[in-house]
Amino acid sequence: MNRILGIETSCDETGVAVLQNGREILANEVASQVAIHAPFGGVVPEIASRHHTECITQLTQRALDAAGGAIDAIAVTQGPGLSGSLMVGLNFGKALAYAWGVPLVPVHHIEGHIFSAFLGPDPPEFPFLALIVSGGHTCLIQCEAPHRYDIIGSTRDDAVGECFDKVARLLNLPYPGGPSIQRAAESGDPHAIEFPRGMAKGDSLEFSYSGLKTAVLYALQKETLPVADVAASFQHAAVDTLVIKTKLAIEKTGANRLVLAGGVAANKLLRERLANDLDVPVSMPPFALCLDNGAMIAAAGGSRLQHGMVGDLRAGVYANLPLA
Ligand code: KG4
Ligand code: ZN
Repeated sequence: MNRILGIETSCDETGVAVLQNGREILANEVASQVAIHAPFGGVVPEIASRHHTECITQLTQRALDAAGGAIDAIAVTQGPGLSGSLMVGLNFGKALAYAWGVPLVPVHHIEGHIFSAFLGPDPPEFPFLALIVSGGHTCLIQCEAPHRYDIIGSTRDDAVGECFDKVARLLNLPYPGGPSIQRAAESGDPHAIEFPRGMAKGDSLEFSYSGLKTAVLYALQKETLPVADVAASFQHAAVDTLVIKTKLAIEKTGANRLVLAGGVAANKLLRERLANDLDVPVSMPPFALCLDNGAMIAAAGGSRLQHGMVGDLRAGVYANLPLA
């Protein structure tokens, strides 16, 4: 039996989980700071790290109580993310690893998202193509083997989740923008306004989302439009671009499976479109594991441990940690 404690504090969610034998979630505690940052329209880094400090001990205790038994290793997000927030989780993990005499396994946040798919109903097998869509990242990654990644496309400017957040602000919808836009879009017409699909023509796998955001701004400046129609049309364009690029990447790489993960993977339209429009099966995490959580970090850390990729107590945080 192998039990990994996973700790995630890279942004505004404190996540602590216990994962048994790679797939069985014994505890998954998440403290979201959404309500705290909402009045500011985005995450305030200093406030985020203070809140991680305030709740991490209690969350860990709750996770350990729920899981029972001893822990064999500690997996913790090392980057990328907000330095102050990352430090809270990493130092807490180091202290536990030292006190319990167990290995410390530093994990890349994106790798955590990729491994969240292994906790879903249809876990993938390597090799596969991954589409990672979150508030900080939009990328297509060829995953050849565990911990061997090749980024074949990423965004030149805004991440898709960031674009949802910025457009929500233009529409006076609450933070975080993704769920607000999805809700507003339910009663809107996705074909009311034709928004651009950034860099969709040609055969580049790069993304660009700043033009879409600007197009929404200009449309709103030109005339008064129903919020629901703008939200639905925007969501349609943003998702369409992801589908177009993913199809192209599958064509180019010959991939026979897709993994979808990251906060934006919670988007219903995106999940439906990818499940219906692609010729390959799609593995995705359940809704609850799309947003940042400790279980995905434990899953990635468990695999690292299996492959002998253990860190030590000198590990530091890296705000811009590269994946490959
Ligand atoms: O992975 P995540 O929790 O944090 C980062 O690593 O960035 O992703 C957060 C992002 C936010 O931009 C949020 O607006 C977006 O995920 N998001 C969504 C939905 N739920 C969360 N975007 C579109 N539709 C959703 N339902
Ligand atoms: Zn994330």
